[in-house]
Order: sequence, then structure tokens, then C-alpha cells
Amino acid sequence: MTGRLEGQHIIVTGGSRGIGAAIVEKSLAEGARISVIDIDTTAGLSLANGLEADRFVFAPGDIRSAADISAFHELAVANFGPVTGLVNNAGRNSYADPLKMTEIEWDEVFAVDLKAAWLCARAVLPAMIAARRGSIVNIASVHADQTYKGYFPYAAAKSGLVGLTRSLALEVGPNQVRVNAVSPGWTETFLVAEYLATQPPEMRKQVLAAHPMGRIAKPTEIANCAAFLLSDEASFVTGANWRVDGGLGARFAG
Ligand SMILES: NC(=O)c1ccc[n+]([C@@H]2O[C@H](COP(=O)([O-])OP(=O)(O)OC[C@H]3O[C@@H](n4cnc5c(N)ncnc54)[C@H](O)[C@@H]3O)[C@@H](O)[C@H]2O)c1
Repeated sequence: MTGRLEGQHIIVTGGSRGIGAAIVEKSLAEGARISVIDIDTTAGLSLANGLEADRFVFAPGDIRSAADISAFHELAVANFGPVTGLVNNAGRNSYADPLKMTEIEWDEVFAVDLKAAWLCARAVLPAMIAARRGSIVNIASVHADQTYKGYFPYAAAKSGLVGLTRSLALEVGPNQVRVNAVSPGWTETFLVAEYLATQPPEMRKQVLAAHPMGRIAKPTEIANCAAFLLSDEASFVTGANWRVDGGLGARFAG
């Protein structure tokens, strides 16, 4: 049986660990060739170590930099040809005080969680439009709809990413290129560990209890949704935001 992503070349930003690495592994299993850009060189090289070089390339780079994205895109195309799929996955948390946060700090968050998605889309879209084929998946967050106090301005950036998804979907829909968001809920990765480290120890129990399924997601469960959206099985799905939150957003608090 051939994989659902056979013949595709997919870029995954921040693909060295966590949800991004799960998307890399799932996409490879479905037959794609993968190019990853990540600022964490150690994690990227360690992931590359276990993978076939003819189907996976890692390049260190910072998605806050248009020059890094452009150089990475050139390298990716030289290796594996035009890009057919893009997963804007790299992201960062933010715990700023809205009254004390500096403009520089604000720009830092938005550079990673929002602007980079546009820069990467801008790099890959001309080839997708020419081929009349392509899929972009933006990893947003349930924070685009509901958020926590003290998590500023993550929710604003992720809401922007869902808005960017809708706008781009309208722009490139006539060219048969699709743009969707995936909004994970709590997922067992470094970002969650980092957040829980800022909270009282009982917080983890409360989080699990709040979930209708009594647990949080494994990165593979987010990757499965992304792989579907990248594949031709999702050929009429565009401009959508797919929540993968174990039902968290379906319940009232309390
Ligand atoms: N883990 C969760 O519960 C959760 C929930 C909702 C949304 N998300 C989103 O999912 C995505 C992945 O999150 P994760 O939990 O796997 O996080 P993670 O921190 O484990 O992985 C993020 C990756 O992005 C890379 N990265 C960060 N800044 C970068 C930059 N400037 N340039 C290049 N690479 C950069 C990191 O090095 C890392 O490899 C993020 O966009 C995050 O906001 C995560």
C-alpha cells in the first residue's frame, strides 16, 4: 500500500522535537520527503541521525529571519524539488504582563508565532500556485478561542494565525492550493512541561480532570490530523481550523 503523502515534499518548521517531530515521522511514514528548519541544531541533528538522508534534510535556521527562510527554502528545493506541503509548526510560549511588556518582547512573540507563517507561505506559494496543488497547515492553538490569564500575548498571536489561515485560503483557493489550521489542546511536549513548571504542582491533576477524555494529547495525535490535511484526502478542506483538544473546548468550566 502506498502512503497518502507519496511524491510530496513537505517543509516542517520547528520539526526537531515535540509536535513538529511527530509530524515529520508521520509524513515520512506516509511516503513524503521532508525538509526541516529549526533553531535547535542539537535536536535537529539528533533527529536527522536516525532518518534516511535521501528523504529527510535538516537545516539550522531561525524563522524570525526572512533571509534564513529564503536560504532554507532554496536548499530544500535543491534537494527535493518544489514544495507541495508546508507545516508552520514552530512556536513559542509567552507569559508577559500586558502593562509591562516591551515592544521588543511583543515583536519577538509575533515574529515566531505569526509573521514567520506568512514568510514561509510567501516562499512556497509561487510553486504551489504554478502546480495548482499544495497544502499549508498552520499549527495554531485552542488559545485562539479560549485562553488563560498570564499567557499574554500568545492567544493574540495564535488568533492571528487562524485569521491568516482564512485569508490565505481565500487568496489561493482559485489555484487549488489549500490552507488550514490545526489547533491542538494540551499536548505532552516541552512547551507544556515549561508551562506546568510555572504553576503549582496540583495544576497537572486539574488539567487532566478538565479533559472529557481524562488525559492530554500525544504529539502523534496532532500529527495524524496534520497528515490528513496535507493529503489529497482533504482535497475539499480549506480555510478551516481543526481543533484537536480531546473535547476540552466542548465543556463549560467548573
Ligand atoms: N504542546 C502543546 O500543548 C501545544 C498546544 C497548542 C499549540 N501548540 C503549538 O504547537 C507547535 C509546536 O509546539 P510543541 O509543543 O511541539 O513545542 P516545542 O517547543 O516542543 O517545539 C517547538 C519547536 O520550534 C522550534 N522553534 C522555536 N522557535 C524557533 C525559531 N525562531 N526558528 C526555528 N525554530 C524555532 C523549537 O526549537 C522547537 O524544536 C507550536 O506552534 C505551539 O504553539 C502546542
